[in-house]
Amino acid sequence: MKILFVCLGNICRSPMAEAVMKKKAIEAGLNLHIESAGTNRYHKGGPADERTIKICLDNGVDLRSHIARRFRTADFSEFDKIVCLADEVAEEMNEFITHPKQWEKVTRLEVGDPWYGGEKEFIQCFKHIEQVCEMLLQKFSDHQNLLPK
Ligand code: 4NP
Repeated sequence: MKILFVCLGNICRSPMAEAVMKKKAIEAGLNLHIESAGTNRYHKGGPADERTIKICLDNGVDLRSHIARRFRTADFSEFDKIVCLADEVAEEMNEFITHPKQWEKVTRLEVGDPWYGGEKEFIQCFKHIEQVCEMLLQKFSDHQNLLPK
């Protein structure tokens, strides 16, 4: 199964979710392909936010090679699940949707944007993302028979 996490900038929430989910999938022995993207282009081609890199490294997840990219309409055909990490992000999907059926792949969640915050907000965000990934692993594996036999 291919999962794409989407936030606004692809420098805080979605790269964090990508890295955490990859780690959890490996630990659970699941064969998942996971990527992330942002709906805006402001940080395209650049690294993750340094505060994102720090909180991830503090928790054994290395994001130093992340390169931000923008969401594109082709992602609807390439991925099985598109996880929008905020309502605002799901709203921005309207710009990329070319067929109503594409909405069937979209999961909407609400993870607060830590970008305007400090270390405390990044720690909270990381913990929230960990819970979200656990919940998604459960949800997707219930539907797709993902768990190892
Ligand atoms: P993210 O955080 O969507 O979690 O990567 C943000 C990063 C940058 C901006 C907004 C949110 N920005 O407006 O540039």
